Amino acid sequence: MFKKLAITAAALTALAGTPAIAAGGAGYVTDYAFSFEGPFGKFDQNQLQRGLKVYTEICASCHGLQYVPFRTLSDEGGVGLPEDQMKAYTSNFEVWDSSLNDGEGDFRQAVPSDNFPAVNGVGAPDLSLMAKARAGFHGPYGLGTNQLFKGMGGAEYIASLLAGYTGEEKEEAGTVLYENKAFPGGWISMAPPLWGDDLEFDDGAATDLESISQDVSAFLMWTAEPKMMARQQMGLTSVLLLSLLTVLLYLTNKRLWAPVKKKAKAAGQPAE
Ligand code: HEC
Repeated sequence: MFKKLAITAAALTALAGTPAIAAGGAGYVTDYAFSFEGPFGKFDQNQLQRGLKVYTEICASCHGLQYVPFRTLSDEGGVGLPEDQMKAYTSNFEVWDSSLNDGEGDFRQAVPSDNFPAVNGVGAPDLSLMAKARAGFHGPYGLGTNQLFKGMGGAEYIASLLAGYTGEEKEEAGTVLYENKAFPGGWISMAPPLWGDDLEFDDGAATDLESISQDVSAFLMWTAEPKMMARQQMGLTSVLLLSLLTVLLYLTNKRLWAPVKKKAKAAGQPAE
């Protein structure tokens, strides 16, 4: 049994070592190095702010973020916008309020307690949880080994998708499809949203295609898992405390049984 497990583990490790792997019809996902990977990883606040800008200026026209409240843009460990900037940002949005207009509903200016609006109509999925929904089990045969061993997940997938257009197009049943190396099946109906140098950043960061793709993907990782930092810290603290507990229990156990062992030794029995 143990031998079998060891062999499986060894095989998985070997498989996970391949750089970019196409899984069961899925596309190529590049192993980008994101700051939030690993047990000590942290979101890069500047990157999240750049990603928010990319989302706002480019993706928001088609994709909603309906599970993300505006106020969380000020949360620590995340985008970390100062309160006044978050409020100013929020006021650019309009949300649907069904309590207005005698219950018939109407649009009103968004306030921090509102969520980002949903965007319906163009057939673009909501992006709030996309970074968790996609490529969680990416890797050979969808086992999730790449995620386990290399921290590759949805953020890598989204970045690879945005930078993965080949430039080929075709029309199928009246829909234009664009060839994309990362998209499972190879043809996506989203026209390439980013080209590189689409916008400028205040912090002077690079605006080439791969950089902005990673920025917006990091931001979408945050929308999908805003409490990642807290979770990792909690995990680390628990592991440390459990290790301490293990040591204490070991010592207690030794101490408790010491008199018995002593007696056994004195009586000439094997003291095990
Ligand atoms: C012009 C509208 C439009 C814009 C702008 C746009 N998208 Fe899309 N996006 C779509 C549509 C439509 C789909 C569905 C494509 C499909 O399933 O073939 C989609 C799908 C996606 C998907 C899901 C792919 C999958 O695995 O199913 C992701 C992720 C995504 N877009 C990210 C982005 C990001 C990030 C931006 C901004 C940089 C962006 N999109 C800008 C229309 C758009």
